[in-house]
Amino acid sequence: MHSSRSIWGKITNYVNIKIGKSIHGEENERLKIEFETELCRRFHIRYPIFLAGMAGGPSTVKLTASVSNAGGLGTLGAAYMEPAAIREAICEIRKLTDAPFGVNLFVVHASDDNSRIVEVQRELNQIRDVLGISHADKEGVTSPDLFEKQFAVVLEEKVPVISTAFGVLPEPLMQQAKLAGMQVVAMVTTVQEAILAQQAGCDAVVAQGSEAGGHRGTFDISIHPMGANVGTFALVPQIVDRVTIPVIAAGGIMDGRGLVAALALGAQGVQMGTRFLTAIESGAHVSYQQALLESTEESTVLTKAFSGRPARGIGNEFIRKWDASGIDPLPFPTHNTLTRDIRNAAAIQKNADYMSLWAGQGTRMLTSGQHAADIVAQTMQQALSIFS
Ligand SMILES: Cc1cc2nc3c(=O)[nH]c(=O)nc-3n(C[C@H](O)[C@H](O)[C@H](O)COP(=O)(O)O)c2cc1C
Repeated sequence: MHSSRSIWGKITNYVNIKIGKSIHGEENERLKIEFETELCRRFHIRYPIFLAGMAGGPSTVKLTASVSNAGGLGTLGAAYMEPAAIREAICEIRKLTDAPFGVNLFVVHASDDNSRIVEVQRELNQIRDVLGISHADKEGVTSPDLFEKQFAVVLEEKVPVISTAFGVLPEPLMQQAKLAGMQVVAMVTTVQEAILAQQAGCDAVVAQGSEAGGHRGTFDISIHPMGANVGTFALVPQIVDRVTIPVIAAGGIMDGRGLVAALALGAQGVQMGTRFLTAIESGAHVSYQQALLESTEESTVLTKAFSGRPARGIGNEFIRKWDASGIDPLPFPTHNTLTRDIRNAAAIQKNADYMSLWAGQGTRMLTSGQHAADIVAQTMQQALSIFS
C-alpha cells in the first residue's frame, strides 16, 4: 500500500507547485501556489480548469471570457448557434479577454430522420396542450451543412482551441485546424475513443465520466444507445494509461477536492460544466438554476427524451411523460428540433418541468451568486489547502 506521502509525491509528478502572485492580483502579502501541468503549458493557461462549452443557453460570452481572464480556459458552447452568431460571439469574447479561449461544436452530420413523425408529434402535442401552445405536425429539418459552416467560422477566426463532442474532426478539417495553429480537443467516454482521438491528431482529450451533466459524448450511439457510462474515477486512469496526450477529467468535479483527485488519477486538468451553471455570468434560465440549487445527488437521470441522444439532467415531468408513452424518440438532431418549441415555451412560462435541466451528479456542491472568476479562484485555493 502507498503511504499518503507517496501519493502526494505522485501527484507532484504532474503538478508543479510554484510560489507566485496573489490569485486575485493583489500585490502585497498573499501568495499563491500554481498548479501548472503540461496541459497548462501547452494551452497557455494558468490553471488546469476548462469551462465546458454548454450549448443551448448556459454558455455566454461573459462566462467564457471570465473563466479565461481568471486563468482557466473559457469555452463557448456554440453547437446550436448560427455561423454568423458564432463570429459575433468570438468578436465579443476578444473584446473582453486577451487570454486563450475555446469554441465547442458537435461533430454531427445532420441528416434528419422523420420516419415516425406522426407518432412522435402526436405524443408531443399532448405535452403542448399542457403548456397551452399550438400543436405541430411538421417534420424536423436541420441545416445539413451547419457543422461545416460553424467550423469554417472558428477556423477563419483562428480561435485558440476547438473542442468537439460526439466525435473527432474529420481529417481534412483536423489538418486545417492544425495548420491554423489551433489546439484540438475531443471529448471521449471510452479508452477506444481516446485512442481514436489521439490517432486523429487531437492535442488533448476530455475523459467524460458518467456523472457528467449534458449529453454523453459517446461517438457511436448505435453501439451504445444510452452512451458509454463509465464513472470518472474508473475512466480517467484507464485512458491516462493508454494515451500520451494530456487527459482532462470531466464529470462530477465541482471544487478543489475534485481537481486534486483528478490530478491524482493522472489527469492534467479538469473540465467543469455544472459548477458554472449558477455563476452570475451563466445564461442558464432562472427556473433552471433554482431546480439545480434544490436538487440532490439523486435528482438526475439519463434520458433521450429531449434530443434523441442520451444526456444527463434533472428528472422532470417532460421526461416522465415521455417515458410513460413508451415511444422511442427520433434520432438527434431531429428530435431536438421537434422539442424546441416546447422547451422555449416552458422557459417563457418559467416552468422547469418542461425544460431540459442538464446537470451532473454533484449539484449539492453548487453555490449561487458567485462570479465565475471566484469559482476558479476558490477551486484553486481549495486544491491548495489540501496540500498545506
Ligand atoms: C448544461 C450543460 C450543457 C453541456 N453542453 C455541452 C456541449 O455543448 N458540448 C460539450 O462538449 N459538452 C457539453 N456538456 C458536457 C460537458 O462538456 C462536461 O462533460 C460536463 O459538464 C462535465 O460534468 P459536470 O457537469 O459534472 O461538470 C454540457 C454539460 C452541461 C451541464
